[in-house]
Amino acid sequence: MSAMAKRLQQQIDELALITEAEPPVVTRVLFSEADLRGRAFVTQLCREAGLELRKDAVGNIFARWTGSDPTLPPIATGSHIDAIPNAGKFDGVVGVLGGLEAIRTLQAAGFKPRRSIELIVFTSEEPTRFGIGCLGSRLLSGVLSPDQAARLRDPEGRDLESWRKQGGCTGQLDSVRLPVDCYAAFVELHIEQGPILEAEKVDIGIVERIAAPSTLRVRLTGSGGHAGATLMPGRRDALLAGAEIALAVEHAVTSSSSPDTVGTTGVFRIEPGAVNSVPCRAWLEIDLRDTRVETRDDCLHQIEAATREICTRRNIELAMERLNVDPPAVCDTQLVEIALGAARKLKHSAKRMISRAYHDSLFMAQVCPTTMIFIPCFRGYSHRPDEFSSPEQMQKGVEVLTETLKDLAGH
Ligand code: GLV
Ligand code: MN
Ligand code: MN
Repeated sequence: MSAMAKRLQQQIDELALITEAEPPVVTRVLFSEADLRGRAFVTQLCREAGLELRKDAVGNIFARWTGSDPTLPPIATGSHIDAIPNAGKFDGVVGVLGGLEAIRTLQAAGFKPRRSIELIVFTSEEPTRFGIGCLGSRLLSGVLSPDQAARLRDPEGRDLESWRKQGGCTGQLDSVRLPVDCYAAFVELHIEQGPILEAEKVDIGIVERIAAPSTLRVRLTGSGGHAGATLMPGRRDALLAGAEIALAVEHAVTSSSSPDTVGTTGVFRIEPGAVNSVPCRAWLEIDLRDTRVETRDDCLHQIEAATREICTRRNIELAMERLNVDPPAVCDTQLVEIALGAARKLKHSAKRMISRAYHDSLFMAQVCPTTMIFIPCFRGYSHRPDEFSSPEQMQKGVEVLTETLKDLAGH
């Protein structure tokens, strides 16, 4: 293992101890104390590497290594450090700390970039607090307007304005948006979060397309009451309506003509949550994705129609909201070739891939040429504590990123 891989592993381990949960479980929800401490940890490392730091109004962090020609648009890399409940330590973090390692490697080699190289730590790639993923990059790319962002609410009804102030963010949200072509390129290093690279024994995946995600939030209001004294006829049980909706999601995606359609009811909360009380309210969040937007949208319509039908039949009040319905992203073909060339030069095996997970790259692709570098992870596990990539696998990913950044930043 190289000294670089050793340091990267140590810093990943150290960051993993900054968690709301009991290690090895990592949970770092947007602007929680753990998220803020994690940001401070990464910021300090960037400062030690001599990078110039800036934080925008939604908390995206930019750490710049200034090039010899600061008039040229910089090259950017980066990812996220926030983590869903019960997560592992590699998702996002490999792209942030690995991106920093790539910069340090170039610095140590005496490389003098012509274009600046910027490491971005995006705010809330995970949809934990507001139900919508990639909050930071959505605002950066203008896909989410400041007005739409201001309307976001967490389950307690608290808004982004209040949370971002708690997160120490100042300035107005309308200052976050970046002009198109403000970066010459964006390259994100990430674990694959799927089993293909490991199964095929390939070192590196270079991403050509990112699947189209969407999220529905469904709030159901029925009528509660005593579990013993409320007889079955006429009950308005919000959980039972929610259960039927979750099954309708499964039915829609499994009968889709595309094998890539996936649907998950990942959030299902009920109130009051007492065994002897009929559930009067339910809150569901449904994640629906596909590599093809047409089949994803067909399913979305089917699920919405089924939800309305279930609620009418069960006499349940329904509030349904599309939190996001995004198109897929197409990566820049020239950038894909450059990254593949970097892997080839380093003699690491590589293949072109589709990302089924979403990433900040989905939105960065709207403002500049973008691609991603994937590394294998154990059994494709992700969003679970036993997520794992070895130091050797990470090293290869950082090497490809380093070479790509070097090529793009010029001499
Ligand atoms: C990202 O975390 C995703 O859910 O794809
Ligand atoms: Mn994730
Ligand atoms: Mn991620």
